Amino acid sequence: MCGIVGYAGPKASAPSSRPVDVALQGLARLEYRGYDSAGVAVIDDDAVRVTKRAGKLANLREALAKSSGSTETTGRVAIAHTRWATHGGPTDTNAHPHLGGHDHELAVVHNGIIENFATLRADLEADGFRFASETDSEAAAHLVAREMTQTGDLTEAMRRAAASLEGAFTLLAVHRDAPDTVVAARRNSPLVVGLGDGENFLGSDVAAFVDSTKEALEIGQDQVVTVTADDVRIIGFDGAEVTDAARYTIEWDAAAAQKGGYPSFMAKEIHEQAGAVADTLLGRLENGSLKLDEMDIDPSVLRSVDKIVVVACGTAANAGAVAKYAIEHWCRIPTEVELAHEFRYRDPVVTEKTLVVAISQSGETMDTLMAVRHAREQGAKVIALCNTRGSTIPRESDAALYLHVGPEIAVASTKAYLGQIAACYLLGLFLAQVRGNLYPDEIAALMSDLEQIPDQIQQVLDSSSQVERLAQDMKDATSVLFLGRHVGYPTAMEGALKLKEIAYIHAEGFAAGELKHGPIALVEEGQPVFVIVPSPNGRHSLHSKVVSNIQEVRARGARTLVIAEEGDDAVVPYADEVIRVPATRTLFAALLTVIPLQIFSCELATAKGLDVDQPRNLAKSVTVE
Ligand code: G6P
Repeated sequence: MCGIVGYAGPKASAPSSRPVDVALQGLARLEYRGYDSAGVAVIDDDAVRVTKRAGKLANLREALAKSSGSTETTGRVAIAHTRWATHGGPTDTNAHPHLGGHDHELAVVHNGIIENFATLRADLEADGFRFASETDSEAAAHLVAREMTQTGDLTEAMRRAAASLEGAFTLLAVHRDAPDTVVAARRNSPLVVGLGDGENFLGSDVAAFVDSTKEALEIGQDQVVTVTADDVRIIGFDGAEVTDAARYTIEWDAAAAQKGGYPSFMAKEIHEQAGAVADTLLGRLENGSLKLDEMDIDPSVLRSVDKIVVVACGTAANAGAVAKYAIEHWCRIPTEVELAHEFRYRDPVVTEKTLVVAISQSGETMDTLMAVRHAREQGAKVIALCNTRGSTIPRESDAALYLHVGPEIAVASTKAYLGQIAACYLLGLFLAQVRGNLYPDEIAALMSDLEQIPDQIQQVLDSSSQVERLAQDMKDATSVLFLGRHVGYPTAMEGALKLKEIAYIHAEGFAAGELKHGPIALVEEGQPVFVIVPSPNGRHSLHSKVVSNIQEVRARGARTLVIAEEGDDAVVPYADEVIRVPATRTLFAALLTVIPLQIFSCELATAKGLDVDQPRNLAKSVTVE
């Protein structure tokens, strides 16, 4: 949700090291966070120069190429922004950066929502400041500019301004009178610093600068950071110096943030899933026992848990729904799964014995973060399952288990979904181990089967041509249904979500047993219905019930597209198309059966000529409630 980049470097020598180019390179990496508009500000010849355009980054690049003033910049700092609109439509005027001050001596980029902006705006207008846009962000720009006039110090101006803002924000500012400096502040919105050699970076996440440096510094809640080419200083909103900011080395390879020959990031990420799940599982077993040292939590806490609540949004919530089946089965702990935004506002029953599991790829989803805060206020312990190191949700949780699937750039989540499910299995098995619900040899057998999954994922990926052909054939479909039982139900939900997100096709996922209670009325001649069939080697009744459901829709004219285990012949008479996946345990099938659905959506959207990585109206990480 909005991407922010800041850069302070040496005076530009080579064309590619001009601050404007470094900032644009960072924006390109962050465009998945929003792409309603993009803009950049530099200090050039003692003036603040802003170029911004509605639409994707390409529009900004075109505008910069036409304006020689900006491309020939010799300044030493730049700030840039890619927007997901909240206040005000996606126009050139509402795009960031916003100018502040009577002489437009300052520029600001902002991620988040400033809740008291109306009051601030009235006050600033009364003081003679003129507003050009409808955004809340412009109020912050004038506020910092006014404080700068009074204090003459950009850090102090940002500190005073930030302390008087309400809501969520990451703010970056540059000022004509401090041409070597970028100053930033954060509250409830992400910000990391990249530490370079004679240059320093700011970004909404490390993707903004991973091409240039792998050394990063976490910026805490309510802190101001002042960055020049050679120096990074942090203070709290109270003015006290911060000396204990966590420094870490980014594990991601810069190449991981590039398409690597695939037509889209989504296609690439789908095809990375065997390695991604292997990395989630890597190094978790020691002498036959499960070790989750990374998740630093007292085992006595896990033994005392009497209820688990999984909170998440979007795809992560579908991973959470899989977790419920696994954890209840293995650990016998009642487990609820709740959309994070519904959890907090319904006055949930949470006690000190409740374990809240927050699942979030980005670690920044505001709805999930607020659920975490609410749970902790009630005394619950929170474990975060996240992909992004240094992000807010794991930092505000009692413990974190990381997915280690590498950066996920496409807005529609794929490899992180599989990583989240695998992490849920690890957590469930670890709980069963700590609480003695399963014998060590049972856990070892389960882990052994789980460790087969990456190879099986690769087999599914290697046989994708059937689904690709199907997607091409179905590119004009207007409605697709998805059915499943047990973990096939969240898989059906995820299959439908993928199709809605990137192909803009009406799609619904149902629990197959619910079909006869209403949704079957939707089925008419030719209606495509995907059915996810559980293993015939699991509980027989589950398999046969789903086979009956296929017959029910087929009898009403549906075109049945059946995802079934290799060797499951019972489905053949009722399937227009059988898509095979390797045999595994019923629970673990959630890591395999979703893959044909991901490929289907990706191919279909591509066949429709859509931008699968940047679907309309969406953002990858939603940092507003
Ligand atoms: C957004 C994205 C979804 C994602 C959801 C949760 O809505 O568009 O793809 O599943 O946020 O994201 P998280 O980072 O918390 O997993």
